[in-house]
Amino acid sequence: MSFLPDGWLASSSELAGKTILVTGANRGIGEAVAISCARHGAEVLLLGRDEAALARVYDQIVDLGCATPGMIPLDLTARDPSLYDTLADELSGANVVLDGLVHNASVLGERRALAQTSPSSWDEVLQVNMTAVFLLTRALMPLLEAAPAASVVLTSSGVGRRGKAYWGAYAVSKFATEGYMQVLADELGATSSVRVNSLNPGAVNTGMRRAAYPGEPPETNPTPDTLTDRWLYLLSDASRELHGRALSAQS
Ligand SMILES: NC(=O)c1ccc[n+]([C@@H]2O[C@H](COP(=O)([O-])OP(=O)(O)OC[C@H]3O[C@@H](n4cnc5c(N)ncnc54)[C@H](OP(=O)(O)O)[C@@H]3O)[C@@H](O)[C@H]2O)c1
Repeated sequence: MSFLPDGWLASSSELAGKTILVTGANRGIGEAVAISCARHGAEVLLLGRDEAALARVYDQIVDLGCATPGMIPLDLTARDPSLYDTLADELSGANVVLDGLVHNASVLGERRALAQTSPSSWDEVLQVNMTAVFLLTRALMPLLEAAPAASVVLTSSGVGRRGKAYWGAYAVSKFATEGYMQVLADELGATSSVRVNSLNPGAVNTGMRRAAYPGEPPETNPTPDTLTDRWLYLLSDASRELHGRALSAQS
């Protein structure tokens, strides 16, 4: 059963006054979520490693007449914590208060048995899908705590809740995401203004899904823009009571 309350529909000003950072905002689910947040009144900060692709999303948002987004070029393979701290300092220096943080960027890595997985691919997947989440959240926590009721959304996967052969480092990184969510939620407890949940998008027609299932007709799965109300709800004040939950977008 969906966590969305029956009949819940985001109003056009659902996220008005909120600033929301979305990682991997240049394509796929991240692009759709960023555009939808902007359409519903948020100022969005688009984080990604491909500046030209980020600029394309920036232009779409501006053309829609939404609040001018921010662009944050950052490659999440970066291991140096000071890069994340510098980003937080720059945002803080610009008086940014973060109402939402959507950890969406991920890589699939090698789809093969663990025994055949290269250490370099394992390392990249764990870095982008998990360690960067830790580094970014750690750096941005003061900005989240400065908001009245910030929401952190971690992106999980079905294989992060039940392991499956040949999903290797990706599945392990998503299990780690769930563990991270539980630990952080417990630490934030009921007293912090920040809440955190994980969301499994389910099968969505994106580049990642097409790469993972090359034989599957892409139109079998919904497009990202048809599911964005789940993210809008989690980022809106309507979901204030949801904290520490492992949620699914399509069940
Ligand atoms: N699609 C599905 O069926 C499905 C199912 C379950 C879970 N998910 C999860 O949903 C999220 C979005 O997936 P998607 O399907 O939209 O995937 P996607 O189309 O492959 O997009 C992935 C995004 O992550 C970004 N990214 C990857 N490596 C990065 C790095 N080193 N630094 C910065 N950004 C980086 C990509 O940017 P570049 O363009 O620069 O590569 C892209 O914007 C992921 O967390 C994924 O695990 C998806």
